[in-house]
Amino acid sequence: MNSLVRDIALDREVSSADFRGAMRRLTGGVSVITAGRGRDISGMTVTSVASLSVEPPALIASVNRSASSWPLIQRHGFFGVNILNADQLDIAERFTGKDGLKGAERFAGADWFTRASGVPLLSGALAAIECEVEEAIERHSHAIVIGRVLDVALSPRSAALAYWQGQYLAIDRDEDIAKMAEVGLPGFGGGRRRKI
Ligand SMILES: Cc1cc2nc3c(=O)[nH]c(=O)nc-3n(C[C@H](O)[C@H](O)[C@H](O)COP(=O)(O)O)c2cc1C
Repeated sequence: MNSLVRDIALDREVSSADFRGAMRRLTGGVSVITAGRGRDISGMTVTSVASLSVEPPALIASVNRSASSWPLIQRHGFFGVNILNADQLDIAERFTGKDGLKGAERFAGADWFTRASGVPLLSGALAAIECEVEEAIERHSHAIVIGRVLDVALSPRSAALAYWQGQYLAIDRDEDIAKMAEVGLPGFGGGRRRKI
């Protein structure tokens, strides 16, 4: 297996504030990672989920090792990725833990189902993806968790929840197509043309 690990010596460190400012400009899709089974569960809101490979189906997520979900992911070896739709903003907020809700309390008020691993999966999520931990690479404050996809449940909703510049945004396919048609973007039905 190929691996490239370098000791990086920098004479000028970029400040965390500058880096945070750069990352605020990156639009992220909002998901809730879930871990554990039964009453021994927790979860966290993340924007760090990305596809790793399609064959085999695998994804990655960057998980803070001080988050309550991390020991559950390690112990059980499974996790769920629930890609939120635009109506699930309240769920995103609950799973940041900012209002003091812990563990199983975060799951109240929404419908959850399970597949083989027992990890909670969110009904009505744009996609609910059950993963087995293939590898977890612990680096700095976080772990890059590689998940092999075991199961997928899709919902037909068209509006996604995104996070950009410190704010939640709805990305609505139907509304965006209407707007693109209005400014006359090719392939979106023409309409009124506007200089951009
Ligand atoms: C929009 C948004 C995106 C986040 N993305 C991540 C992420 O990718 N990885 C991560 O470790 N924490 C992320 N967090 C922070 C976690 O949601 C938060 O630290 C966690 O839920 C708190 O964990 P605990 O109370 O269960 O320990 C994000 C928070 C917000 C509001």
